[in-house]
Amino acid sequence: MTKILDWKKYTEVARRVVAEGCVLLENKDNVLPLKKGCKVAVFGRIQHNYYKSGTGSGGMVNVTEVTGITDGLKNSGLVKVDTELEKIYLEWEKENPFEVGIGWGQEPWCQKEMPVTLELAEECARRNDVALIIIGRTAGEDKDNLETEGSWYLTSLEKEMIKNVSTAFEKTVVVFNTGNIVDMNFVKEYNVKSVLYTWQGGMVGGLGVSDILTGKENPSGKLTDTIASSIKDYPSSSNFGSLKDNVYAEDIYVGYRYFESASKDKVLYPFGYGLSYTNFKVTAGDFEFDNGGNLPSVKFDVTVKNTGSCSGKEVIQIYVKQPQGKLGKPALVLADFKKTALLKKGKKAKLKFEFDISRIRSFDDTGITGNIDCFVCEEGLYEIFAGNSIRNLSKIGDFTLSETIVIEKVSDSLKPVTSFERMAAAYDESTKQLNFIKQKVEASSPYQNKHRNDNLSELDNFLERKNLNQDVLAVLKTLTDEELSCIVRGEGMGSPKVTAGTAAAFGGVSKSMNDKGIPCCCCTDGPSGIRMDSGSQAFSLPNGTSQACTFNPDLVKELYSFTGWEMVYNKIDILLGPGINLRRHPLNGRNFEYFSEDPYVTGIFASAIIEGLHSAGVTGSLKHFCCNNQETGRWVSNSVVSARALREIYLPGFEMAVKNGADVIMTSYGSVNSMWTSGNYDLVTQILRKDWGFTGIVMTDWWAMSNDEGKEPVRFNVAQNVRAQNDLYMVVPDAAENAHNDNTLTALQAGELSRNELLRCAYNTVSFLKKSHAQSRLENRDVKVVIKNRKKTAMDGATDKIVYYDTVDGLSIPLDHVDTSRGKSYSFGIVTKDQSLYRIELVGKTGDNDLAQVNVSVSYNGVNIAVLCWNGTHGAYETKGLSMDRPLNRNVVVNLYFAQSGLTLKEFKITKIKDNN
Ligand code: BGC
Repeated sequence: MTKILDWKKYTEVARRVVAEGCVLLENKDNVLPLKKGCKVAVFGRIQHNYYKSGTGSGGMVNVTEVTGITDGLKNSGLVKVDTELEKIYLEWEKENPFEVGIGWGQEPWCQKEMPVTLELAEECARRNDVALIIIGRTAGEDKDNLETEGSWYLTSLEKEMIKNVSTAFEKTVVVFNTGNIVDMNFVKEYNVKSVLYTWQGGMVGGLGVSDILTGKENPSGKLTDTIASSIKDYPSSSNFGSLKDNVYAEDIYVGYRYFESASKDKVLYPFGYGLSYTNFKVTAGDFEFDNGGNLPSVKFDVTVKNTGSCSGKEVIQIYVKQPQGKLGKPALVLADFKKTALLKKGKKAKLKFEFDISRIRSFDDTGITGNIDCFVCEEGLYEIFAGNSIRNLSKIGDFTLSETIVIEKVSDSLKPVTSFERMAAAYDESTKQLNFIKQKVEASSPYQNKHRNDNLSELDNFLERKNLNQDVLAVLKTLTDEELSCIVRGEGMGSPKVTAGTAAAFGGVSKSMNDKGIPCCCCTDGPSGIRMDSGSQAFSLPNGTSQACTFNPDLVKELYSFTGWEMVYNKIDILLGPGINLRRHPLNGRNFEYFSEDPYVTGIFASAIIEGLHSAGVTGSLKHFCCNNQETGRWVSNSVVSARALREIYLPGFEMAVKNGADVIMTSYGSVNSMWTSGNYDLVTQILRKDWGFTGIVMTDWWAMSNDEGKEPVRFNVAQNVRAQNDLYMVVPDAAENAHNDNTLTALQAGELSRNELLRCAYNTVSFLKKSHAQSRLENRDVKVVIKNRKKTAMDGATDKIVYYDTVDGLSIPLDHVDTSRGKSYSFGIVTKDQSLYRIELVGKTGDNDLAQVNVSVSYNGVNIAVLCWNGTHGAYETKGLSMDRPLNRNVVVNLYFAQSGLTLKEFKITKIKDNN
C-alpha cells in the first residue's frame, strides 16, 4: 500500500493551528486587523529571529525554512512593511548577531534588543500607519524561566522600545513570540492598543500569525492559563524551584482554581479569555438533569450568535460551581468546552453538551466524607455556567444531589511519606467568601515494597496464563534470560539499528530476537515534530501552548495525523510526546511543550494528539509521568504532594488520555513522595495499570535514576524499574553489552527480581510491537509513504523516490546510468538486517589528467561520511571506499553528491567485513 503525504495540506493545517492558537488580549479602537494596504513599521529583532519553538528535546527539529512574522506579513501582500526600518535592523544585527549560547540548554531566554529612540520612532511614525512590536522569549529543557528581566519581565530596552514607539504612534500593536505567558503590566503603563500572544508557531508560525494580523482569520484562541499581575501571586511561587523537597503546599489550588476562589483582584487576564474581531451573544437553551442513569448527568444546549460585523469562531466554556461540602472546592471548575464552526455575521449555532457528574469529581484522601480513596461528588447544589471565559459566564441550570455519591474507589497509592501543610478552601458563611486555611497532610509509612510483594503471586505461572495473548507468550517462551534483560533496555541515542539520529531503538535489538519475530522499534522526540539529529529535515509544529489555546482538539488531531504519516515515512514508531505536565507555575522552562494549568484541557489535547498519531498506525509517548513541574533539579527534586492533588489535577490529564487509548508513557526524572518515578510501583503499576487499566508500555526518561524504597536513587537500577513494571530503561549504547553493568541479571540471580516480573515487562513490549509498523517492516510489508508538494531540500533525492536494496553478505548496485555532472546528486537505500560491519566502495573512472580532483561526497542518512577523490585514471575503473567501524543503520539512505564533473560511475559495492551475529 502507498500513502501520499501532502506537504501543502500539512502546512495549511499547521498554519490554521497557529492562527487559531493566537490569543488577542487587547484591541482598543479596533486597531487590529490591519487595514488592507496600510503601512506597518515592525520593531523588535524577533522580526528576523522568530522562535519556532523552545529549546532542548522539545524543539530540535531540523527544517528547510522557518517563516517568521515579518515574512508572513510580506507574503500576505495585504500590508506594506517599512523596508527602511527593516534595513536599520539588518545593519544593527550584523554587529549584534543572534546569540545561540554554548551547549545544551545554554541559549539565552531572550536576545539583546536594538535601542529604539523616540526620534527613530517618530521618523517611522511619519511614514507608517501602524507600529508592530514583536517581543520574543525562549526557554526549555534543563532551564526554567527566571523572575528576571529578559525572562518573566521585559528588559529595560524592550520597555523603552514600547514606550517610545507607543508615544510616537497612535496605533501600536505588541505581539508575543514566546513559549508561554510573561509579565503583562506594561499594558497599563503605555499607549498600546492591541496585544496578541502568538506563542511559538513552528516552521510556518509567521504565516498563521499574519493571517490574524491581516484579518484573513479572526482570532478565536483563549488563554489556557491565568495571567496574574505579579509572579508572586501564583500560589506555588514559594516552593517552585526547590532542589530537594518541593512541597506542593497549594494542593489543588493551581491557576484559576486558586485565583477565582479567593484572589480575583490579582488577575490581569483570566483563564479562558481571548478577544475576537466580532462579537458573540451566548444564550442558554434547554437544561435537563437526569438522575436515573448510572451516574446523574446533565444535558443542555447553548446558542451562540455572531452579532458583530465579520465571520468568526467562539469557544463556549462550561464551568461548575460545586457545594463546598466537607472537602472544600475551588469556586469554579471547567467541565467542558466546545468551539463553534466559522459563523458568518448574523448566524448562530446551537452547541449541545452532555456529561455525567464524574467530570466534577473530587478526591477524598483523608476519609472526611466517609469514603477514603474515593472520587466523590458531595451532596448539595451544583450550578452550571456557560460563557467565553471564566469571568464572562451566564447560568445555564442547576441540580441538587441529595446525598454524596461515590464515583469510584481507587487503590491506596502514592501517598506522601512526609507530613506537610496544604491549602484548603473554607467557606465563610458570614462574609459569603471562600478563604484559604492551612490543613495538615498526615504522612503514610512507606509501603511500595509491600504492595509489590503482596501482588507478586499474581504473576505465578505467567507463561501459562490463559487470559494473555498466546502468540506473545509463545514468543516469550523462547527467550533466554540474557534476551529478557536486553528487552528491558532501550538503545540510543542514535542507535544504528533504526533511523539515524533518533532517540532510541528497543525490542528486537539483536538478530536472534529478530529471528524469533520480535521487531526493532524506533522512537524519537518529540512534542514539536520529528527530531533527527542526523540532519534529516522534518515538519516543525506549533508548540503545545499554541495547540491548546486553539481550544480546537479536532484541528490538532488532524495536524498529528500528518505527523503520524511523516513518522511512517521516516520509519519511526513512537513520538516522544506530547508533554502533558500541568502548568503549576508560569516559570517552568518546559511550559511551552505543555498545554495548560487545567487538567481537563490537558487531557483533551493529549487524547487528540494520540488519536491523530494512531490514525497512521504510530503513537506518542505521554510524558513526563508525573509532576515534572520544574526543570531546576529535575533529576533530584522530590515532589511532596497529596493524593488529592495527584488524583484531582496532576494525574487526570494522563488518565483521560490513557482511557482514550494512549499506549505509551514516559516516566519523569524526579521523585514523587520519595520514590523516583521510574521505579515507582504505586505510580506505574497500582495507579496506571490497575486503577486505569493501561496495557501499553512504560519507558523511563533518558538515563533516569530510580531508588529502592528508603534508599538513595542511582542510575541503571533497572531491576527496580522492572519491579515497578516500567518496561524500558532508556538508554544504553548497546542493550546486549550491558556496558553500564545494570543490575537486571544480578538481581534475577539473587532472587531480588522474579523472572515473571521480567516476563511481564517483555510481554508489555512484545504485545505493543506486534501491532506496530516495526512488525510490518520486519516482515517487509510496511506501507510506503510518498511525500508530495514538499519544497526541494538538500535531502530530497535522498528520500523521495528511493529504491531500497536488501543486503545480507554484500551486494553491488549498478550506477552507470547516473548523471554525475557538477552539482547533481543521486540516492538509494540499503536495508541491513544485522549488526555486521561493512565496507562500502564506489567504482568509477576519469580521464587522463593526473592532477584532476574529482570528488564525490558520500553521506548516509544525511550525515557526510566520506569525500572520495579520483585523480586521472586514464579511462580505467578505480575503486575507492571506506570500511565502516560501526554497524550501519537498519535503513540507510546513501547520497552521492558530485562536487565536480568528470566521473563515470560503474557501481556501488557493499561487502561484509566482520560478522557480528
Ligand atoms: C527529556 C525527554 C526527551 C528525552 C529524549 C530527556 O532529556 O526530558 O522529554 O524525550 O530526553 O530526548
